Amino acid sequence: MCGVFFCVFIFLLAIIFSYIFLRGEKKEPQKRAKLPTGTMGWPYIGETLQMYSQDPNVFFAAKQKRYGEIFKTNILGCPCVMLASPEDARFVLVTAAHLFKPTYPKSKERLIGQAALFFHQGEYHLRLRKLVQGSLSPEAIRNLVEGIDAIAASALDSWAGGHIVNTFHEMKRFSFEVGILAIFGHLDAYYREELKKNYCLVDKGYNSFPTNIAGTPFKKALMARKRLTKILSDIICERKEKKSLDKDLLGCLLNSKDEKGGILRDNEIADNIIGVLFAAQDTTASVMTWIVKYLHDNPKLLLGAVKAEQKAIRISNDEGNRRLSWSQIRTLMPVSNKVVLESLRMASIISFTFREAVADVEYKGYLIPKGWKVMPLFRNIHHNPEFFSDPQRFDPSRFEVAPKPNTFMPFGSGVHACPGNELAKLEILIMIHHLVTKFRWEVVGPNSGIQYSPFPVPMEGLPARFWKESTT
Ligand code: HEM
Repeated sequence: MCGVFFCVFIFLLAIIFSYIFLRGEKKEPQKRAKLPTGTMGWPYIGETLQMYSQDPNVFFAAKQKRYGEIFKTNILGCPCVMLASPEDARFVLVTAAHLFKPTYPKSKERLIGQAALFFHQGEYHLRLRKLVQGSLSPEAIRNLVEGIDAIAASALDSWAGGHIVNTFHEMKRFSFEVGILAIFGHLDAYYREELKKNYCLVDKGYNSFPTNIAGTPFKKALMARKRLTKILSDIICERKEKKSLDKDLLGCLLNSKDEKGGILRDNEIADNIIGVLFAAQDTTASVMTWIVKYLHDNPKLLLGAVKAEQKAIRISNDEGNRRLSWSQIRTLMPVSNKVVLESLRMASIISFTFREAVADVEYKGYLIPKGWKVMPLFRNIHHNPEFFSDPQRFDPSRFEVAPKPNTFMPFGSGVHACPGNELAKLEILIMIHHLVTKFRWEVVGPNSGIQYSPFPVPMEGLPARFWKESTT
């Protein structure tokens, strides 16, 4: 009997010891992992001022030189780990994406709308993403060529005449119109004006100090956002009555059903429409503004080659009497296409993105604590001489060879990668076609320097004069 008790006692002891031992084993790597090196700056503001008050290239490059490819800092009061190599970016955005959720300040979520896809992860995000991706796929956007062509031609005509134009502001108008076309197809002029007026106020307040005090840009933006909800709900209501099967984004959102037959609520549709407009406008407009500058600064080699390519297409279209076609854009614009890719690399208008660790994560011997932000640094990767030789030189020919995997991510990577990338490239190429075949331009004001709005754009939005060239 005694022997049996003894055996049970030894057995229990073994279980207890092995539990303690194995737990210890499991915990050990976490204990060994240390925070990345780096500095956290001042209390509350951290190193925000240093990062936003200078060229981010300089800020990131100095950090990387001192601390290596993974380093810590503090931005906007949040502890962050910055990651500057392609494999680190891939880890956060692709391989271990489930450990890092998207994160935005609450004030931005209030303005765009909490149900917009880029604030979400998991099932809801996947469902919305499929719908947005579907409506922006090459098969869908090829039907937009004629519409975008007309918008580009009329935008450029309005700039001509030699008066000074703020190139970035005009490009924003253009990308907004294209966004409206992709989302609604044809939209009644009244709704379009109301959307434009109120969206403009939201845009103005987006980067202002978040406060509820009446009269401030943020409060005005919140009120405009409320009006946008009402306008969108009227548009949605009209569409529902028509029971149309349109394939534009609104049509896809309205007609979507989940496995249980559930449809999207009106506020989910509205937030995603505002979200897409927001994601589409400044990004595309900044890149196009940079392209106008790069072409202007390299008249002989760069502009000459792009002009030759585009003029050949215009001649084959009976000097513009026939519209540009999808197949011309996809197959007859290799030089312009490389200029777009090189502009995306050089300007790297999305310099980095933010995620938040949903658990303690151990990576390459470092601990990324739960709740910390992580920032894959796209700009550093795009400007690293190891992947792009002489990175400060504008050289579209480097894209004759595909970049190494994960070294070129202007549209991000993984589950949140940009679903609008094909539309962005399409509208940029159409704009280039009209710009170089019919216009000449001159930059006035500062020809160097970058302004952060918050995306990098040429100083003062690149003030310029445009003239229509005679085609004879
Ligand atoms: C040159 C122009 C553009 C650039 C450089 C760009 C870049 C990006 C990047 C880097 C991301 C990923 C952000 C992250 O991972 O945190 C993103 C996401 C997104 N972009 Fe774009 N974008 C552009 C144009 C557009 C356009 C034209 C649209 C729509 C018409 C669009 C819609 C979106 C949406 C909806 C997301 C969120 C996707 C998700 O969370 O699943 N973008 N974009």
